[in-house]
Amino acid sequence: MGEKKTVRVKVFRFDPAADREPHYDTFELEAQKGFSIYNALEYIVENLDPTLAFYASCRIGACMGCLARVNGKVVRTCTTMLEEDVVIEPVKKEQVMRDLVVKGRPLPEDILQA
Ligand code: FES
Repeated sequence: MGEKKTVRVKVFRFDPAADREPHYDTFELEAQKGFSIYNALEYIVENLDPTLAFYASCRIGACMGCLARVNGKVVRTCTTMLEEDVVIEPVKKEQVMRDLVVKGRPLPEDILQA
């Protein structure tokens, strides 16, 4: 088991049914070798804030269901490792259903970036 490292995960939050404006929540958690962005989101939901909404399906990098913008770059959260402080945002803020979940399927330009 690798050495653990404390990282700050800043996450875009917006529930159109309840919020007037988006905001960001920051969580501190312990990451270690092999800990993905998806693992971090899952950890947050299970241990810190069960209201965080995100989506993932295959968790092996095949379906593109988990795309998000991490430090400004569109990535697959399930295959991108958490190695430093990150800002996690939806692929398209204008299509947010809640937090990191967006309407519709990813477009080819989203997939090309990931
Ligand atoms: S959950 Fe399928 S590519 Fe990440």
